[in-house]
Amino acid sequence: MLLFKKCNPLTLLLYCLILNCVLTLTRCQFIIDEDEDDSNEDETPEERAERKSIEEDSYLTVDKLIAKYGYPTEVHQVTTEDGYILTMHRIRGKQGAQPFFLQHGLVDSSAGYVVMGPNVSLAYLLADNNYDVWLGNARGNRYSRNHTTLDPDGKKFWEFSWHEIGMYDLPAMIDYVLKTTGFKRIQYAGHSQGCTAFFVMCSMRPEYNKKIIMMQALAPAVYAKETEEHPYIRAISLYFNTLVGSSITEMFNAEFRFLCRMTEETERLCIEAVFGIVGRNWNEFNRKKFPIILGHYPAGVAAKQVKHFIQVIKTGKFAPYSYSTNKNMLLYKEREPPRYNLTAVTVPTYVYYSKNDLLCHPADVEDMYRDLGRPIGKYLVPQKEFNHMDFLWAINVRRLVYSRMLKVLGKVKDRRDNVSVYPTPKDIEIPELNSKELESD
Ligand SMILES: *[C@@H]1O[C@H](CO)[C@@H](O)[C@H](O)[C@H]1NC(C)=O
Ligand SMILES: *[C@@H]1O[C@H](CO)[C@@H](O)[C@H](O)[C@H]1NC(C)=O
Ligand SMILES: *[C@@H]1O[C@H](CO)[C@@H](O)[C@H](O)[C@H]1NC(C)=O
Ligand SMILES: *[C@@H]1O[C@H](CO)[C@@H](O)[C@H](O)[C@H]1NC(C)=O
Repeated sequence: MLLFKKCNPLTLLLYCLILNCVLTLTRCQFIIDEDEDDSNEDETPEERAERKSIEEDSYLTVDKLIAKYGYPTEVHQVTTEDGYILTMHRIRGKQGAQPFFLQHGLVDSSAGYVVMGPNVSLAYLLADNNYDVWLGNARGNRYSRNHTTLDPDGKKFWEFSWHEIGMYDLPAMIDYVLKTTGFKRIQYAGHSQGCTAFFVMCSMRPEYNKKIIMMQALAPAVYAKETEEHPYIRAISLYFNTLVGSSITEMFNAEFRFLCRMTEETERLCIEAVFGIVGRNWNEFNRKKFPIILGHYPAGVAAKQVKHFIQVIKTGKFAPYSYSTNKNMLLYKEREPPRYNLTAVTVPTYVYYSKNDLLCHPADVEDMYRDLGRPIGKYLVPQKEFNHMDFLWAINVRRLVYSRMLKVLGKVKDRRDNVSVYPTPKDIEIPELNSKELESD
């Protein structure tokens, strides 16, 4: 692939965006030849088995991946009130186990909570701690690319952003979980856009606040004043102003996954591009397992989701999608859409954020935290290079983040169906980890 050899990741990204569109238009079908002879003479049999297993993990769908590691798994279909058919994956807990709902971020899927395997990923940790784990998939990603009447290959299917994910997808999935399990309330955790959509839901449909015991917000992408200078965000923003960019509806899907894995060269460039976007932290980067990530990311989004984030970044306002002035007047009765009301988010919310997160700057997260209706604690990850995706992918994410989450959850264990009593920051108070605890494994 001479073409890619000397180009920088940014060029690659733009190139892929355009190519992505061309490939979509031609509806190419790629078949990966899995039988090719790839034996490597320097490899021991154990290394070969490990490499094969990693390769297998990269191709398995989320339910098969969970089953491979010996956890009981189920697949559920949920239809939203506007007709989108969503897939939920479940790691079924024991009879009576508290349901725990996990919602993924932008360009991600339910895979985000399992890709790093049972010794690392959050879904397994919660299952091991006796939760009944439900993994959501937002409309438009590879598992939720279906609708009762609309064709996902048509334009109309893609007319949504994370506003609709919060308005329709999360409520439908939460109601489904409550109905299926007979519980009155669930525990919720979201990563990035999984938080954004959650706050949309709680502010626009406040009756849902009562259905959530507590919210664990990992790298919440909500306020984004500090993200404006991000070079990749600028590039993507410019891209939307081009002829190809402005007509695109679906982005970062299967063709993109194929491109990243085409050759070692493109794989390296994709790694560069990913960490250029989210922040670099090579110490927590699991190079060996990265092929699994490339097999599951990106999972597909609507262009409007990305455009909506860019609006939030540019205006510094966490608000619904802004159209032309005329359409805004019609929809919102104002020239600009009014902000989402974070005060109306009354779910007790615990926030996890980090210093090297290029998409959620600590100052933005702290601003958001102050505006929430019921903030109960925040935790700045005590590693200065920790990035946006490290909340799912870091080698030591259990020690650095999830151990704290388990402590927070432990404080409200006995309150699961007691709607009238909210935990206060004092209830959740956890002493800061000392440096010894952080270094030990
Ligand atoms: C998880 O860790 C244990 C103990 O270190 C190890 O034996 C096991 O193979 C690991 N499992 C996976 C799937 O990596
Ligand atoms: C989409 O949903 C319809 C209606 O439920 C179903 O018949 C069809 O098989 C689904 N398509 C895919 C690709 O899952
Ligand atoms: C925001 O929500 C809070 C709590 O529900 C309410 O008291 C307040 O009036 C709302 N603010 C706006 C601007 O709607
Ligand atoms: C709810 O919690 C309060 C305070 O902890 C307790 O007094 C009350 O009995 C609980 N109610 C139920 C239904 O468990």
